Amino acid sequence: MSTRNLEGDSLTQAVLASFAGTPDDRLRQLLGAVVEHLHALAVEVELTEAEWAHAIDFLTRTGQMCSDQRQELILLSDVLGLSMQVIGLNHDSPPPVTPSTVFGPFFVEGAPQLANGQDIAGGAPGEPCLVQGRVEALDRTPLGGVTIDVWQADDEGLYDVQYSDLDAPRDRAQLRSQDDGRFWFWTVKPEPYPIPEDGPVGELLGASGRSPMRPAHIHFMARKAGYEELVTHVFVAGDPYLDSDAVFGVRTPLITPFERHQPGTAADGTEMSSTYWTMRYTLVLAPSDTN
Ligand SMILES: [Fe+2]
Repeated sequence: MSTRNLEGDSLTQAVLASFAGTPDDRLRQLLGAVVEHLHALAVEVELTEAEWAHAIDFLTRTGQMCSDQRQELILLSDVLGLSMQVIGLNHDSPPPVTPSTVFGPFFVEGAPQLANGQDIAGGAPGEPCLVQGRVEALDRTPLGGVTIDVWQADDEGLYDVQYSDLDAPRDRAQLRSQDDGRFWFWTVKPEPYPIPEDGPVGELLGASGRSPMRPAHIHFMARKAGYEELVTHVFVAGDPYLDSDAVFGVRTPLITPFERHQPGTAADGTEMSSTYWTMRYTLVLAPSDTN
């Protein structure tokens, strides 16, 4: 097909034909869909050159804001609901499997490996909270040896990587479940937070009058050979933002009560001289051959 004198649909068809020889079937399908949908979008909204230049500048700055401690492109995918759309397509195991939700932009490789019962907060501000977790298989038998990454914001609503003056990880750790499926750790009670507003994604939310707020949560990633990797959050019951999450990540089974306690002996035997919180949650993993 000639690439000369093309416009409108004939241009779209020529571009599609140019990719027709892509040897990989899936890549050919993906490229074709990208071309078809992008062209259709431009035609539908009668895209101006200034608007397209603005969009390219936006995407350029979004990429430039990414580093090993900040992922603005994931954040963009999250606020567009695309992250949850992809999760829905790839993780559709029915209950009792724990639902998946967004990975988010704040996971950092190489978190400290801590033993059960340790404090992952590392001095982060907030009220102490004992998290008592358990990992189970589909038949509700306990799963030991599960690698569990945990990360969360402090009560200022900030992750460690958002502080410029920290030289050690805070409020993130990697743990392992015991043979009885249990894992537990101390942290601080998470609070709602705005997603970062100082970059292109913040500009996007500002220009559209959208709230940047996310309901309070703790991130979990659970991995064990033979089971589907689970990336999820546990949300705090009663949070005011559970139905207006900026990244559309809340699923009802992920909401659990956090209980406040007076000073005394906590469930793990720790003597607490101040008030503290507890939270219990069970992660149920799907076998890796169900999808
Ligand atoms: Fe988060």
